[in-house]
Order: sequence, then structure tokens, then C-alpha cells
Amino acid sequence: MVTLRKVELDEAGLLLDFSKKTFYDFFAHLNEPANIEAYALVAFTPQKMQEELSNPNSEFYFAMLNGQVAGYLKLNFADAQTEFRDEKALEVERIYVSGEHHGKHIGRQLLKFAVDTAINRQLDYVWLGVWEHNYKAIGFYQHHGFEVFSSHEFLLGDDRQIDLLMRRML
Ligand SMILES: CC(C)(COP(=O)(O)OP(=O)(O)OC[C@H]1O[C@@H](n2cnc3c(N)ncnc32)[C@H](O)[C@@H]1OP(=O)(O)O)[C@@H](O)C(=O)NCCC(=O)NCCS
Repeated sequence: MVTLRKVELDEAGLLLDFSKKTFYDFFAHLNEPANIEAYALVAFTPQKMQEELSNPNSEFYFAMLNGQVAGYLKLNFADAQTEFRDEKALEVERIYVSGEHHGKHIGRQLLKFAVDTAINRQLDYVWLGVWEHNYKAIGFYQHHGFEVFSSHEFLLGDDRQIDLLMRRML
């Protein structure tokens, strides 16, 4: 059975290893190696992970299966959001399930947790950014009631990519 639990500050190393591995697993083969490396050098450092975990307006959760990390979720509230910083919104900044566990409804459980968290806090909507070519994730979000409402540029190394911004009103 899959259970969700909050990631603690002293688990920064485990979170760093899992997030780096899943990022490479899903996106390395779709992008120039130099761009992936440039992004990872900034995004996946022990210091950055500590900072993110210490932010009172960010929360990380692990999805645990048989004692192993099978997925994770990063939620941003208020000024921790990467855009808009709307007090009445929740951003799902990251949601990843490791490849061997895809299709087992772990992603659904993580996304439902995000939506339930926003409902409990009486927020107006949940939003996220997703690479325009990440068709699987876009389909997954649409399946769960998210709609595209805008887009923005995302710099991966020196590659200017387009992220679709999707939201689900509550
Ligand atoms: C996107 C991701 C989190 C989905 O997690 P998952 O555990 O594989 O998905 P689930 O098994 O929970 O699927 C949940 C539901 O969505 C549906 N679904 C999944 N992918 C879909 C797609 N491409 N189109 C339509 N529906 C889809 C499933 O049929 C299932 O439906 P149900 O709940 O009605 O049975 C996972 O594929 C992942 O980690 N991808 C790589 C990282 C990534 O791209 N993250 C998002 C970055 S923005």
C-alpha cells in the first residue's frame, strides 16, 4: 500500500538523490546533455535542497511503497510560489513517480493530496507549470480536471522552453 508522508529537514540527502534521479530518468534523453547538466548543477545541490526544505511556505511529501520512496510532491504556498504568489492559490511545483511504479495510481494519490490540501486551506485554485512536450503529464493533469490558462518561458541551460500553466478551480 502507498502512504504519503512529509519529508523532514534531515532527509535532504534522500530527497536530493530521488529528485535528481527522476529528473534525469524522464528528461535527460529528451534534451541536450549540456542543458540538462547546466540545469542540474543549479537545481540539485545539497544547499538548494536545504533551502527549499526550510522554506515555511513549501512542503515536500514522499509516496512510500514497501519502505521505499516511490514518488514525491512539492507544494508551494503564498510567496514560495514560483509565479503569481497569489495567497489564495497552491502551486504543485513538482510531482514525480519513479518509472517502475507508473500506472499504479501513485501520481493520482499525490495530486489528490495536493487538491485536498488546497480545499482544506480554503484556497481558490491549484496550478502548475508543465513542459509543452510532456504529453503524458499534460494528459494526466487534464484527466484530473486541470485546464491550460497561460504559458511562460522556462530556461533549461540555454534552451528556452515553453511551459503550459494549468489550473484547477476549487
Ligand atoms: C505524471 C505522473 C506523475 C503520473 O503518475 P502515475 O502514477 O504514472 O499516474 P497514475 O497511475 O496515478 O494515473 C492516474 C490516472 O491518470 C490517468 N492518466 C495517466 N496518464 C494519462 C495521460 N497521459 N492521459 C490521460 N490520462 C492519463 C490514468 O489513466 C489514471 O486514471 P484513473 O485514475 O481514472 O484510473 C508520472 O507519470 C510521472 O512521474 N511522470 C514523470 C515526471 C513528470 O513528468 N512530472 C510532471 C512534471 S510537470
